[in-house]
Amino acid sequence: MRSDGTAVKQLFTSLVSSLGRETATRELKWMKSAALIASHSPTLPAMLQRRLSGEPLQYILGTTPFGPLDLLTRPPTLIPRPETEHWTLQLADLLTPTPARPLTVLDLCTGTGCIPLLLCHLWPPGSTRAYGVDISQDAIRLATDNAARCNIPLSHASSLAPYSQNVFIPVLGDLRNPDVFKRVLPPFDVITANPPYIPKREYDELPISVKNYEDPAALLGDPPGSEEQDGLTFYRLIAQLLAQKGMLREGSIVALEVGQGQADAVEAILQQSAGLRKTQVWKDPWNVKRVVLARA
Ligand SMILES: C[S@@+](CC[C@H](N)C(=O)[O-])C[C@H]1O[C@@H](n2cnc3c(N)ncnc32)[C@H](O)[C@@H]1O
Repeated sequence: MRSDGTAVKQLFTSLVSSLGRETATRELKWMKSAALIASHSPTLPAMLQRRLSGEPLQYILGTTPFGPLDLLTRPPTLIPRPETEHWTLQLADLLTPTPARPLTVLDLCTGTGCIPLLLCHLWPPGSTRAYGVDISQDAIRLATDNAARCNIPLSHASSLAPYSQNVFIPVLGDLRNPDVFKRVLPPFDVITANPPYIPKREYDELPISVKNYEDPAALLGDPPGSEEQDGLTFYRLIAQLLAQKGMLREGSIVALEVGQGQADAVEAILQQSAGLRKTQVWKDPWNVKRVVLARA
């Protein structure tokens, strides 16, 4: 039988062929430290083997950084992406809630809870109550576990009691079903969403490491039965929601992540269907128009 050392060398050589030396070396370092830190973690050869079969590194390690947070990652919930981290940090800098002037955040399609949990972490204690809505049980469970990991207490949807810490409220529900909004308390000062936005034809071209591991419902912009196939179905739904009386206050902020090439269309949807005229677009670090921002 081969020793672990020989197996690791051979597996690493294969990883270099598939990812290039620089990335393979970096990933090996992370896997080694995960194997050292967590006693329950898989062995190094097992991790390398999984990586070679295409599994995303973040699922193998079980965590990913998101700003100063270190969030749990579990398949099939979408792994938070660097572009989402970038604009969430930018949004956190834009607003300055205080316990005297607290904000209520509604994050639609919350996944790991990365967006509301980062805002809760960065804003002053007692200034933020954040809802995270998702259709997936796995996602809501993971967001709840992540809140505990980040020391952000859970609250109840109906509780308006004053709070000394920032609180997170996970809500299992389907954006397409208006009943979900009976379980949250508008108006909202900030509405964020990174909804599924990939058109089917682009989804078909995604690498195996995405398609075989991450939930298609987290990626496909037009769920089965949608009228359009442009990846924008969720933005139309969100705009209808924003148009409802009492959802926003004057000055509320809406921040929606978009796919490459979608910003202009989403800006038009927000203006025409939600009546939000004050819009702007933020670019990501790769110079792609990534977020449509609107002020009520
Ligand atoms: C692109 S992921 C974003 C996750 C997380 N916000 C992030 O940025 O990493 C989209 C999320 O939308 C959720 N989702 C899909 N369809 C939904 C629906 N009809 N109602 C509510 N959430 C939905 C998926 O379960 C998934 O977690």
